[in-house]
Amino acid sequence: MKELKWWQKTNVYQVYPKSFLDTTGSGTGDLNGVTEKLDYLKTLGVGAIWLTPVYPSPMVDNGYDIADFTGIDPSYGTMADMERLIAEGKRRGIRMVMDLVYNHSSNQHPWFIDSASSRDSEHSDWYIWRDAKPDGSAPTNWRSIFGGSAWTWCEARQQYYLHTFAEAQPDLNWENPKVRQALYDAANFWLDKGVGGFRIDAIVYIKKPAEFVDGEPDSDDGMVNIHSMIANTPGILDFLHEFKEKVFEGHDIFTVAEANGIEPEDLDKWVGDQGVFDMLFEFSHMNLEFPHGELWSQATGYTPDIIPRLKKVLSASQQATAKNGWYPIFFENHDQMRCVKHYFPATADRKRAAKAMAASLMTLRGTPFIYEGQELGLDNVAWGAIEDYNDISSHGQYELALAEGRTADEAMEIVHRYSRDNARTPMQWTKGKNAGFSAGTPWLPVHEDYRWQCVESEAMEDDSVLSFYRQLAALRHTGEAAGVLQQGDYTELLQEDPSIMAFKRHFGCREVYTLVNFSGQEQDYKLPELAGAKLLAESVADSSQGSLRPYEAVIYIKETGEHL
Ligand code: GLC
Repeated sequence: MKELKWWQKTNVYQVYPKSFLDTTGSGTGDLNGVTEKLDYLKTLGVGAIWLTPVYPSPMVDNGYDIADFTGIDPSYGTMADMERLIAEGKRRGIRMVMDLVYNHSSNQHPWFIDSASSRDSEHSDWYIWRDAKPDGSAPTNWRSIFGGSAWTWCEARQQYYLHTFAEAQPDLNWENPKVRQALYDAANFWLDKGVGGFRIDAIVYIKKPAEFVDGEPDSDDGMVNIHSMIANTPGILDFLHEFKEKVFEGHDIFTVAEANGIEPEDLDKWVGDQGVFDMLFEFSHMNLEFPHGELWSQATGYTPDIIPRLKKVLSASQQATAKNGWYPIFFENHDQMRCVKHYFPATADRKRAAKAMAASLMTLRGTPFIYEGQELGLDNVAWGAIEDYNDISSHGQYELALAEGRTADEAMEIVHRYSRDNARTPMQWTKGKNAGFSAGTPWLPVHEDYRWQCVESEAMEDDSVLSFYRQLAALRHTGEAAGVLQQGDYTELLQEDPSIMAFKRHFGCREVYTLVNFSGQEQDYKLPELAGAKLLAESVADSSQGSLRPYEAVIYIKETGEHL
């Protein structure tokens, strides 16, 4: 067994800085707010913070539209604040992980402004330009991920440019070596600042196919989701190996790439010694409601059969990394709904649901990623009108649902479930004004439940979601179960059970068992090997072996006596 690296032995916490803590009264969170809460994060066993983008940005997609890859947006503070955050983090053993958004830039980036100014400009071929079809229409029928055509017309050049995401996020042309070098230089700038790693955004789109052709329409708008046309185009790994060589290699950092659509079978090419990255976010467990691609209107919503399917994909990904590679374990991020709604019916007890996910997150094999507010068990929101939503994809998907003939109410229901704003409401610190997030007017409303779901309240309650996370973080990193949880192998148990997820971790002479009941009914189970095991953690007081109450989770440890 290889010696584990530092990032394999810690929890990572994802901060959405805009919603974390506002120290100026501006209504948006800032870097000093993150620095202020480092000690809080330490209580969750956090050794690295993934900061979603804090670079200068027009904020069309909340920072994923970057106008300067080596600056700090004034709304977040200054470069000096960033340096202080890095230094203060380091003092506490917490390293910063920057988000590299390299598939595209903002349309306000000087490179794009120049590129769009004329076909003879210095940056002319830094983006993806194509002529119109003979009838003047867009070069292909690809739909951008946020809805609407993936092409926007540019008068000055009399050409269209491609954008996988919003119109304000033109795709960079990775075929141009100067573009690649400029991006590597920017990443190296952050390495020189002392960051501990990178999360690499939307990386599966950087390589475009040689020919651009129309796809079979997947909806009434006559378009096809661009993902199915350009994701993971052959040749992509050549770019990525160069990226590794010029940036990551030889540094004591970790890289985790957002790679929707990379199946566990292909993992070897992407991660580990022969691959490019240390970890990959793959989304098979996040996409269970999307059997027909990414359109929200075609998603299934919660159905109880999500649980056997969740078990299956989680098990497959655990097994995929058994020999090589390492996965981040995650159930939430800034693009997803809150997990208490994802894997549970609307009627489920939210606290139990949150703890069930905590038990799974903190005992599977891999590096646990906790998303801001997940440790409090935060819930989705459901605002009245589409205008109340900030998330650009909510607007695009709402329009698409209407275009497909849904009523406004139906379209809103879809937005309620899938809006990315569900995860972006301000962090709930206190019972006071604006949940202690801001003395000003928060950029997005605070969830109405903040008076009883906030750090201030939950820290005082022994049975709160926060206390459970802290207990599990301690289990994972210190004490008798730590070795097993960090390096133990994984075996699925009760495979055929439709509502209990159960697995065993094993290392040396110890085993740790996790059992989670995802159903609203009490469930009995038979697991003779549990005899003699000791209870380590329970999500509801007074658990008993052999049966689980609704949404209950338990964790046991057992000494096997033999060094297997
Ligand atoms: C990734 C990010 C998402 C962003 C998109 C475009 O999927 O996680 O928030 O909108 O890329 O950069």
